[in-house]
Amino acid sequence: MAEQLIHLDDTLLLGVAELDRDHQKLVEVTNFLLGALLDPRASPMSRDRALHDLYTFSEHHFRREERLMSAHNYPGTVEHRAVHRQLLTRFRELDQQFADGQTPSEAMGRFIRNWLVEHIQRNDMNFVGFLRKQGILDA
Ligand SMILES: [Fe+2]
Ligand SMILES: [Fe+2]
Repeated sequence: MAEQLIHLDDTLLLGVAELDRDHQKLVEVTNFLLGALLDPRASPMSRDRALHDLYTFSEHHFRREERLMSAHNYPGTVEHRAVHRQLLTRFRELDQQFADGQTPSEAMGRFIRNWLVEHIQRNDMNFVGFLRKQGILDA
């Protein structure tokens, strides 16, 4: 099961301390949720709690990131914000599916396993690339 968990390695670090800190916390929350889904002995309460944490902490992190994008007039702000909204909608859907008693499907597990890595590598990296090009970020 350990190989299914996410690690915040070099391919996921942005070099922006406040965002990397948030991503580390999101990795922990996502791994906890994965554990709660994959472990047949885990209680539904731990799964609900993990989903709740994922939702609230993502919302918090997305807002922080969006503030930073606006502050630097990032041209991709609107698109990036839309992706954040889609993710929050997806988390709410998952919450609903579990509340309805659905067992986690393979697609669900895959989504939970991959959303953070894909989002950081596709969207967050683009934003940081922009900051670097503008000379706002060193290296
Ligand atoms: Fe983002
Ligand atoms: Fe992010």
